[in-house]
Amino acid sequence: MDPVEDLRGYIDWLRKRNEIVEVGEPLSPELEIPSLLRKVMYSGGPALLLTNIKDFDGWRVAGNLFTSLRILREALSVNKLEEIGERLIPSAFFQPPSSTIQKVKAAGELMRLSKYLPSFVSKGSFEENVIEAAKNPLDKIPFFRTWPKDGGRYATFPMVITRDPESGIVNMGVYRVMILDGKRGVVHWQVHKRGALAQSHALERGMEEIPVAISLGSDPGTMLAAVSPIPYPIDKTLFAGVIRGRGVELVELPNGAPAISNAEVVIEGRVRLKELVNEGPFGDHWGYYDKPTEKYPLLLVDRVYLRDEPIYYGSVTGAPPLEDAVMGKAVERIFKPIINTLLPEVVEINYPPEGVFQGLLIVSIKKRFPGHAKKVMSALWGLGQSSLTKIIIVVDHDVDPNDIGKVIWAVSSNVNPQRDLVVIEGSHSDALDPANIAHSYGGKLGIDATRKLPEENLGKEWPELVEEDPTTAQKVAQLLQKLMEGRGSIDRFKE
Ligand SMILES: Cc1cc2nc3c(=O)[nH]c(=O)nc-3n(C[C@H](O)[C@H](O)[C@H](O)COP(=O)(O)O)c2cc1C
Repeated sequence: MDPVEDLRGYIDWLRKRNEIVEVGEPLSPELEIPSLLRKVMYSGGPALLLTNIKDFDGWRVAGNLFTSLRILREALSVNKLEEIGERLIPSAFFQPPSSTIQKVKAAGELMRLSKYLPSFVSKGSFEENVIEAAKNPLDKIPFFRTWPKDGGRYATFPMVITRDPESGIVNMGVYRVMILDGKRGVVHWQVHKRGALAQSHALERGMEEIPVAISLGSDPGTMLAAVSPIPYPIDKTLFAGVIRGRGVELVELPNGAPAISNAEVVIEGRVRLKELVNEGPFGDHWGYYDKPTEKYPLLLVDRVYLRDEPIYYGSVTGAPPLEDAVMGKAVERIFKPIINTLLPEVVEINYPPEGVFQGLLIVSIKKRFPGHAKKVMSALWGLGQSSLTKIIIVVDHDVDPNDIGKVIWAVSSNVNPQRDLVVIEGSHSDALDPANIAHSYGGKLGIDATRKLPEENLGKEWPELVEEDPTTAQKVAQLLQKLMEGRGSIDRFKE
């Protein structure tokens, strides 16, 4: 068995590397644990395993498991997270195989993809205990109340699994679930997500409810897949296999929904599609409370399955950057090669963590023609969840989108507001964006901060960038080295 096969395996793996700290003080999942987790995340602290959960004997709670990109990369056994995205892109896509050997190799590569396929097993590790709905199982799980004015306790990292009624394809998304009582909740699948798409496919077919398997706590690859923006109709559990490097095992519940076999907890239930109830307030990842302005469907729980001595994993939200920013960055890196196959002109992308991922994207391109930056903006605004990005800044290939100072320089010096801003008034937007004018409806801003070609600049050449004379630069560089010997660099902008 792989060391990082499930949540426990991951925690043991973190323990061996001294990357997780056990906390024995009694703490409540109502405000106390979330507050500690946020403080640890803001301080760059380690993953935590809390062993003394007030009012929830027998439980342990794990948090900050997506501690850093490095830890995630090592847990997923890759040299670079981009390698994961590359797994989906056989080299034959780029070099049409001409020789027989190349053709055999290409076929082999496609075969290789088959090892990522999910498989069904007859029993999951979550089946060690079962609590039927009559016993109010949701009351027995240490779901968090993350902020004082939250409308209730929430499952903050539930992997909500459904089969799409149109195709039978498996959807798996992290959509928070507000706990109403011991056997009812509200599933917050936003309108642009696949759960909501399954809902509309079901409604078109006259269905009243969709069976659901909500899996809590799994290996980091599966959990990362659940937050990854994989377009319908690609099977989400297949993508989990791509991230993990091997297929996931699923168990079909009596209601027909597939659950993750290695989950700590599985909630079997039904989402009542026409019974819509107020959801929220919830202090979300934008750092604001979102108000119960939109109704979401009711979850009716039939039973809950749990492992012995279960471990609850919950994420916490608040002003960025928290743990979800690490997940977002990991997704950015994994998807970079995929973006590159669709938009080869893209050199680098950066969703700055403070930009909440749906807020701001900076992208550098190898510009070739007039209007190229706007072409890239349009493409990204038309592409899966990248279409939810509110502000896109496009810079030239020689500006690193991760160098915010350079980006500011490019915006300041290359932008003529009359010519280089794209404002889309009234467009779809992230459901939680506090600046929306109506639910899931706001606007977009594109900033073309590339140097302009004559066609874009009333026929005028763009001014030439200054560059040192190479001989002088070399001579002066040596002198500088001598001058700086033994000195740190001065912070010139500090009073
Ligand atoms: C901690 C966390 C909580 C999230 N909560 C929600 C949520 O409540 N509703 C939602 O629609 N998306 C939520 N997301 C984002 C989705 O998980 C993400 O968009 C994912 O790609 C959805 O899967 P889908 O594309 O298969 O629908 C959350 C992400 C994270 C990291």
